[in-house]
Order: sequence, then C-alpha cells, then structure tokens
Amino acid sequence: MPRPPHVPIVLALAVALLAPLLAAGPARAASERIEALIARMTLEEKAGQLNFETADWSQDRGLYMSEETEDRLRRGLVGGLFNIHARGVARRAQEIATRETRLGIPVMLGYDVIHGYDTVFPMPIGQAAAFDLERVERSERIAAIEAIGDGVNMTFSPMLDTSRDPRWGRTAEGAGESTWWATEIGRARVRGFQTADPRDPTGIAACPKHLGANGASKGGLDYTAMEISERELREVHLPPFRALVDTALCFMAAFNTYDSVPVAANPFILRRILREEWGSDAMVMSDFGALSELERHGVAETDADAAEAGIRGGLQMDMASTFYLAELPGLVRAGRVPAALLDEAVRAVLTLKERMGLLDAPFARFEASEGRTETSPAPHRAEAQDFAERSLVLLKNEGDVLPFARSVRSVAVIGPHADAKFEMLGSWFGRGVFSRPVSLAAGLADLLGPGVDLRIVPVAAFEGATGDETRAAVTAARGADAVILAIGEAAGMSGEAASRTDIDLPGRQMDLVRAVLAEGRPTAAVVFGGRPVAMEALAAEAPAILKVWFPGTMGGTAVARLLFGDVEPLARMPVSTPRSVGQIPVHHDRLPSGRPAIKWPDVYSSNYLDRPTTPLFPFGHGLTWTRFEFGEPAVDVRRLTDDAPVSVTVPVRNAGDRPGTAMVQLYLRSRFAPISRPVMMFRAFERIRLAPGEAGTVRFRVSADQIAWWQAGDRFAAAPGPIDVMTGPSAGEVRTVRIDYMP
Ligand code: GLC
Repeated sequence: MPRPPHVPIVLALAVALLAPLLAAGPARAASERIEALIARMTLEEKAGQLNFETADWSQDRGLYMSEETEDRLRRGLVGGLFNIHARGVARRAQEIATRETRLGIPVMLGYDVIHGYDTVFPMPIGQAAAFDLERVERSERIAAIEAIGDGVNMTFSPMLDTSRDPRWGRTAEGAGESTWWATEIGRARVRGFQTADPRDPTGIAACPKHLGANGASKGGLDYTAMEISERELREVHLPPFRALVDTALCFMAAFNTYDSVPVAANPFILRRILREEWGSDAMVMSDFGALSELERHGVAETDADAAEAGIRGGLQMDMASTFYLAELPGLVRAGRVPAALLDEAVRAVLTLKERMGLLDAPFARFEASEGRTETSPAPHRAEAQDFAERSLVLLKNEGDVLPFARSVRSVAVIGPHADAKFEMLGSWFGRGVFSRPVSLAAGLADLLGPGVDLRIVPVAAFEGATGDETRAAVTAARGADAVILAIGEAAGMSGEAASRTDIDLPGRQMDLVRAVLAEGRPTAAVVFGGRPVAMEALAAEAPAILKVWFPGTMGGTAVARLLFGDVEPLARMPVSTPRSVGQIPVHHDRLPSGRPAIKWPDVYSSNYLDRPTTPLFPFGHGLTWTRFEFGEPAVDVRRLTDDAPVSVTVPVRNAGDRPGTAMVQLYLRSRFAPISRPVMMFRAFERIRLAPGEAGTVRFRVSADQIAWWQAGDRFAAAPGPIDVMTGPSAGEVRTVRIDYMP
C-alpha cells in the first residue's frame, strides 16, 4: 500500500500491514435507518458526528455551551457533548440537536461518573478493597439514576487499567493489581450503569477505559509510552476489556503508546485485536485531545496527519481536539482518506446512539428523572455509608487497640484529615461537593454524642504540622482515652496527572505522628490515600493502622463506626503495599526468579541489599476483630481436566473471642509449563462468618480456564502440568495443595 504523504513511515507500515483489516467493518451490520441517514449526510455532517466537544464552565455562568459550540451543534457538527451535567443546558443541547438541525440526530451527553454522581461512593480502589460485586453494581445503579437527572446519558467509565506502579496517580481509579478482579469489577460496573438493556432510560451508556495498557505507563507517569511485551498486554491489561465485548457499546482508547504507536492511532489494538480477533463493533472514542497529542508523540506532523492516522488506525470519535471536524472532509475530498473509513466511524457512532435508545427516544432519560428534587437522598447516602464501611482495611492492630470502647470520655482526632469534608471525596468526585460530605470529626461527633470530650486538631498542610499545630495535637492527645491520627495523602495527590516519586506519607507527617505517639495513649492511624502509601515508618511505630482510601460522602460516619466497633473490618488490600518506592514493581502475580529471594538478607539471589523484596502489606491483607486459623486445602480429585473442575475445601476456625468474617482467597500457579508463569494468580475468594471458637469450611471450584495463558491471537489455553492451588487470608500467607492439569 503506497505510503500517503506526510504520514510517518512507522505508522504507514503499521497501517499497510493491517490494510486488509481497514475495510473490516463492524461485526454486525448497521440498521437500515442508520444506512439511510449516512446516505443523506454531507461530509461535514459525517465529520460532525465524530466530534465530541466539552461544554464550558465559568464562575458567573456555571456550565454553559459556548456560542461557537451551540452554532456547530445547530449545524449538525457535534456528535456528543460532555461536562454538560446541568439539566437545563443538557436539555437545551438535545433540543437543538433533535429539532434545529437538518437531520435531527441526538447527541451523547457524557460525563465522568467514576464513583458516584451526587452521592459519592468510595474511590474505586477502595471499592475494590470491599471485594463486593453486588455493592459495586448497586453503586453504579445509584450513580446512573442521579446522573440522568442532570441530563447525562453516557459515562466515561469504568476505568479498568491494571496498575503495578503506585507512583501512578490513577491507581486510585482502578481495581488494583489483579486482572481477574478488574475483570469482575468491570462487568459489575457496566451492569450497574446500563442495566441489562442499554436503552433503559434509568441507565447511562458505559464507555470502559482506557483500552490498551494505560496502567503500564513508564515511570508511573500519565500520557507516556509503554514498553511491555505483547504477552503482558494480552494477559494483564486487555482481559477486562475483552470480557465486555458483548456488553460495552463504547471503549475509550488509552492516551499512551503501545509498541511506540499511540493507542489513539494504533491499528494493532483498535483493528486487529478489537475488531478482527474480538469481533467487537463497539464505538471507540479518543481520550481528551489524544488526537492532537499524536503530534507531540511525533507520529503526526500536522492536524491533518493526526486525523488521517486516527481514522486509519480505527479511532472513531474525537474527544475535544476537533481535528476530525476540521480535517476529515478535506482529507476525503483530497483522496487521502477513503470515504468508506469515514462512513465506518459514523456508522459506529450512530449504532451506539441507536443501542442506547437515543435515536428512538432522545428525551426518555429526562422524562425518567422528571421531578427529581433532592440531591443525594437518604437511601443513596445509606448505600454510600454501607459501601464505605466495607472498604476500610485494618492493616495493623497491635494489642487490639481497636475497636475503641464506646465508654471513652475523651477522644482526640488530629491531622489534615481530622475535619476535612471535601477531601473525603477523593478525585473524580462528580457533583459530590454538593452532597454534604461528612468529615471524620463530624462522624465521630454524631456517633459519640455531646457527652464525650471530642478534641479536634486540624492540620492545615498535608506536608506537615506547624509548631503550634503540633503543640495543640500533643495537648489534645494528653490524657485522651482514644487518639486518632487522620493522616495520609490529600485527594489531589492521586488521580489523573497526580503521580508521585515518593509514595510514603507526605512531607513531615511522621513528625506529628511521633509527637502524638510519645504521649503513650491508645492511638490509631487512619490513613487516607488513592494508592498503597509506602508507610514503612508508620507501620513500625503506630500500634493500629486503618487504610480508608477516600471513603466518599459518608466517609466520616463510616470510619467513626468502624473505629468504635459498630462494624467489623471486612476489606482486604487489592494492591500490594511497597516498603519503599524503590521496591516498585511489587505485586502478588510476579514472575518467578531463577534465584528466588527465599530469605533476606541473602547473597546471589533476587534480593535488595537494604530491604526485603516482600511487600509491607501483601495483596489480600486485612485484619478483623478476631483471629482465624486457616487449615490445609483439600481437593476431591488430583486431576483437573477441561470437562471436570476440581473442588477445593478449606477449613477455617475462629480462634479469637469475638465473632468475625474471614475472607479465604484462592491463588493458582502453573508450576511447570513451556513458559514461566506467575508465582501466584488471585482467582477467587469466599467469606465465612464464624462465632468465637466456631469452625467452618469454604469451597472453591478450580477450572482449566483459570490457569490458561495467552497462546496466539485471541486464544488462551494451558498446557498439561502440575498446578499449585494456594489458599489463605492473603497472598503472603497461603497453604498449598498440588493437582495436575491433564486436558
Ligand atoms: C481525561 C481522562 C479520561 C476522562 C476524559 C474526559 O483526560 O484521561 O479518563 O474520561 O479526560 O474527562
């Protein structure tokens, strides 16, 4: 295929290799209505359908459509608007699109509904820690019902990037380090957003993101390259998207590159894998301005080159760059882009609109939310509180400091999060600022009542307390029956474009911790953060640590209730916690070494000189109010075949003096195989609630698909061989039984 002028050789080669696929249209034909529409559209109107513009916001006007956007909308040159989550403005936009344009094609009205809309649920990483798919789905159901009230009909969610580098701020938005768990969570989120029928007017169309390997960015930085093997791409990063091929109407392409080609113009991912192998005909949109970033990635010299690279690469909707609108009509007229490629993209956009019910009933979601008055109603807040309570991980509890007794007479709550309301919301908080978030101090006051001397000592800066603040903290802690250190990262220290080179507690927070601990009172550290904070010193010095992520609108109430034992800690870590940033990457499903670090220190083995290679807290870690004993796993048969799963039972006993819920985890390993396989892969969990002294058994089913690995194309399979079945309370504490896979 001759290289068109201006398109750099690397891109031309990629496209040439995949040329036969360029004509590969969607797996399913579009409806006659859509084909008839396309036949009537001008080149400008076609390019307009691919144009996804953002609304504007200003202090005096609030959310509004600029005059230019409204003019383009009226001329049929806008296919979708986002950040327009205001009912009146959104409705006006839809009225213009359907009643004042030549063809009356409705617009998508998108927004980042990431962990709630009015009512904010825990940050997604905290939701992942709850290990509760039902609550994940319910939280998105509630978010969708709240969002349609403001005219939203699409969300740029779920974010399913698997990350193993917690320097990356967007670790906060994902489901942690387990691809299997991200896959399960992705399915639950899409069900919650869309219901079983994406035309449901109480639902909003989901657009899972960021297709590619966004979590593998080099250095934990956003918008950069990825240098990973195709095996890692296929086994670690793509499965959550692969699992949604039959339910997702849309995917958002990752900002960064794969094999040196930005995913926004990468036919290997957007055509070979997504279309040819997976058979998906979901629409693919870019991330914000990603088309314009092709020039900065150095794969396009001009806006026209970028538009050509995108449409040829398989990108169908242009978020925020307007390059498609500006350049595609000319590129088609000049013969640089086949008209068929433009029609292919338009077909995908119109098919999405048809499948989400827009072409038939563009105002159905407005009608379904008519009369909504209350922001963040009580039932939604109750769900958010319940979910928040289940997201809190008890990392340490030396001497059973927690739960504090309800008989306390004085409580000190100290630190930058002591009385911070909006920090509870984390990043991507939707309209949560209007949801009356509950600070930790407010939650404690509500719980303990006026009879308890609640000493609140806020600290203004996350980087550390001033001398006066430290003195006030020590005074408040002196003689207190309970002391709570509310510390960790600020909400803005994670999320998009919020990577950190040091992932320990920010600044000099440990100075404040030590000053307060010196008072020798019963003290618990409550650690906020969107990533696994490498809290090595805190873990050594604080007797009790509760990891709360960013618990959302009802966070203060949830944390207070757990600290005083009204709820038990059910959550477990969905990520490994590094001892130090220097240890990254550290994750449970690492590949083996030829000289494993069996002990530390050691010589001539995969060890660091200055720290063990094991994480500070392993994946799956989380304590309860009691102690459990986890017995040896037992199997019903030793042979696993393709047709017959193996049943695994695990005895569990409550060896403590309080009732509690154990979460038994299952990990698998192909012990010997033609390729080196991870030392363990998280594949299932079961909970069991036991009274003091009570024993019980949990059961798992192991099947061959759980150990399959990428072979070629879209094919996964395992090879015959021994399989280690590991069970226990975390990736750092498992017992093993061996079975044999013989297909
Ligand atoms: C941002 C994010 C993406 C988000 C989009 C629209 O840059 O990368 O996740 O959905 O822009 O806000």
